[in-house]
Amino acid sequence: MNTIADPHLKTNLSSGTYQSGFGNEFATEALPGALPQHRNSPQLAPYGLYAEQISGTAFTAPRGHNRRSWLYRIRPAAVHHPFEQIDAGKLLSHFDAVPTPPNQLRWDPQPMPTVPTDFVDGLVTMAGNGSPEAQTGCAIHLYAANQSMTERFFYSADGELLIVPQAGRLQLLTEMGVIVIEPQEIAVIPRGVRFQVRLPDGQARGYVCENFGALLRLPDLGPLGSNGLANPRDFLTPNAWYEDREGDFRLVAKFGGHLWQAKIGHSPLDVVAWHGNYAPYKYDLRHFNTIGSISYDHPDPSIFLVLQAQSDTPGVDTIDFVIFPPRWLAAENTFRPPWFHRNVASEYMGLITGQYDAKEGGGFVPGGGSLHNCMSGHGPDAATFEKASHSDTSKPNKVDHTMAFMFETRNIIRPTRHALESPTLQRDYQNCWLGIQKNFNPERA
Ligand SMILES: [Fe+2]
Repeated sequence: MNTIADPHLKTNLSSGTYQSGFGNEFATEALPGALPQHRNSPQLAPYGLYAEQISGTAFTAPRGHNRRSWLYRIRPAAVHHPFEQIDAGKLLSHFDAVPTPPNQLRWDPQPMPTVPTDFVDGLVTMAGNGSPEAQTGCAIHLYAANQSMTERFFYSADGELLIVPQAGRLQLLTEMGVIVIEPQEIAVIPRGVRFQVRLPDGQARGYVCENFGALLRLPDLGPLGSNGLANPRDFLTPNAWYEDREGDFRLVAKFGGHLWQAKIGHSPLDVVAWHGNYAPYKYDLRHFNTIGSISYDHPDPSIFLVLQAQSDTPGVDTIDFVIFPPRWLAAENTFRPPWFHRNVASEYMGLITGQYDAKEGGGFVPGGGSLHNCMSGHGPDAATFEKASHSDTSKPNKVDHTMAFMFETRNIIRPTRHALESPTLQRDYQNCWLGIQKNFNPERA
């Protein structure tokens, strides 16, 4: 575990300390009285701090969607040297370089790096749509890192970052506090919030969905009622934490799809107190309250929706973050795995642990990914179809020891040139369906 120079708050660095709830009006201070009361911008803030607002939505957004926070910090965010563009490596935000094939695609996991690589250097963009300029769509990145960030800090002005670890814990030191996540937990870092990623286990690997559009939110529950799916109180936002550290540091910004770097003489993680509803958060996917059929048929996967980024069209999201957690299957006289389908939406899937119940034949492994684009047919492989077609459905069975997820988008997901040419691309993926037999017999009903 990395240690930080500020002994007064060392205790929360290994796990973080948190406030509970989703999108609350949080209020937190690392020093008593650091948070001004009953006003945001007093003539002089306590302890000689600077008051600064960060907004995540338009000032005039309706109250129910409006997100902003007030930060009380040692130096304003404006204090740094000029940015200069740096090589972004395989980190991309524009997706028009190569035509998108309608093929079903699947990849092996990203290998762990063999040279020192931090979280930012370890980001590789696999696919995406939309653009940061249009403020709609997303980029789907993988990360694989073996070095903690210590001397540089990062933020994305292009979108909020939904981080899905697959191997190794992440210690996220953010302007607004410390978040620690392990596989089967997720974190969301809002657009613009500066942070460092440290690696308590020495190396880490996982997935990132960079959301260029409207902020992720909890879905409405409709006829489910007032509870279920991801419950708001299971979301955790960090308490204020800061470091007063000076040195020869770098601030890296992702802005307009490019990477920019500026010298900065102090740690920007210097927010002593803050309040508001624009803040990073974490969620343990194992707390998801999974809803399913107790009569017949496998419901649409929207029943597994954790977070959504809404579009301007009611009911049509730009991003749905969906999980496939452990659950009981009880539907009678039903083909219990996911059915064959083609969707207007496009689906990038990842696997955090275990086995996905539509791919008994193997090939979809933790850390890997698959992409089924708009109207490309897919579903259970031949092995899964055979097994599930003849299984006993008079008793429930449990899908266990697994956690898969999906980034589903309304627009075509466009793989990058790297993703299409990568040695991790499985050139034989279609074979998992080519073995499906013709069972049709007009003489047998
Ligand atoms: Fe699908």
